[in-house]
Amino acid sequence: MNINNRRYTGSKYKLMSWIKGLLEEHCVDCNSFFDVFGGTGVVTASVIDMYQSFVINDFLFSNEIIYKAFFLQEAYDQNKLDNIAKAYNEIDKSKLKSNYVSKNYGDKYFKMEDAKLIGYIREDIKSKKKKGEIADKEYYILLASLLYSFDKSANTVGHYEAYIKGKEIRTDFTFGLIEPIDLQGKNISIYREDANKLAKSIKADIAFVDPPYNSRQYSRFYHVMETITKWDKPSLTGTAMKPPEENMSDYCRSAAPKTFEDLVKHLDVKYIVVTYNNTYNSKSTSSKNKITLEEIKAILEKRGKTLVFEKPHQCFNAGKTEFTDHKEFVFITKVGEKDA
Ligand SMILES: C[S@@+](CC[C@H](N)C(=O)[O-])C[C@H]1O[C@@H](n2cnc3c(N)ncnc32)[C@H](O)[C@@H]1O
Repeated sequence: MNINNRRYTGSKYKLMSWIKGLLEEHCVDCNSFFDVFGGTGVVTASVIDMYQSFVINDFLFSNEIIYKAFFLQEAYDQNKLDNIAKAYNEIDKSKLKSNYVSKNYGDKYFKMEDAKLIGYIREDIKSKKKKGEIADKEYYILLASLLYSFDKSANTVGHYEAYIKGKEIRTDFTFGLIEPIDLQGKNISIYREDANKLAKSIKADIAFVDPPYNSRQYSRFYHVMETITKWDKPSLTGTAMKPPEENMSDYCRSAAPKTFEDLVKHLDVKYIVVTYNNTYNSKSTSSKNKITLEEIKAILEKRGKTLVFEKPHQCFNAGKTEFTDHKEFVFITKVGEKDA
């Protein structure tokens, strides 16, 4: 599986050829790239050929593991991983005991037998690591592979805000391995920090800024990924079986414009590249944007001359949001340069 083989709200994968063209044309003499809200990591992966050093950040635990699995340039034994994957797929799931995943998510997000296997594999990855049977990079690859594998068979519309009810749950979970990316000697630093805090200590040529823009919290949307990654087995509550709140983003609250302004003010870069879409007109309240296009432009203009590019785009839609005139925007600010 490749880095883009994952369902993720707001993934820029489909927009990357357009965005790369804009970066090539408008951000000159750049060597370093700071992906401030990395999400899936597809933005960094798409521009790996264009720069020499990279910083990628996201405050979710699952995204950090995924970055380490795909990007960290450490040794691993592919043969060993192939054998582990083969052994996982040969397990007779009907004989497995119940576990944390099956008790909480069985016959909800996953068919009961698949849930038992997912829980069994998670525990086994932990135990292999504890016994020193796998290196750090092998641990990251196995764990990210588990996340990617169960995401494919999860009984959801693509995120874990709820599971689908009243329909036969698929039982096609198989364990597949992710394919790490060869950075060919380039540098990457991976962070799991609050973007505004991190921005104060990073220097780069380009900051790529793709925050959430509506009230949908990523830590709640992807809570199953977070719980299985952290594996500290909290009590889960509600129909959706969510853990206690963590990593609630100010970008999803009414404080969003202030938070965005604080970030932009502190970025120590030559170019600030911001992506945005105009769902603030949407009929669904949770899809309404917390910052307007005009607010973004005004905030960016304070740092330098800002160009705005737009493109029609088909957005991720779980069915409720009636919204047809969807446009994607890219702002490019040349820091320090004022309009003539
Ligand atoms: C629109 S998504 C980024 C999508 C990404 N560009 C891609 O193509 O996959 C926004 C991301 O910001 C993260 N996030 C939200 N608030 C944050 C914060 N305060 N600090 C760090 N990350 C945050 C979310 O977890 C989410 O992954």
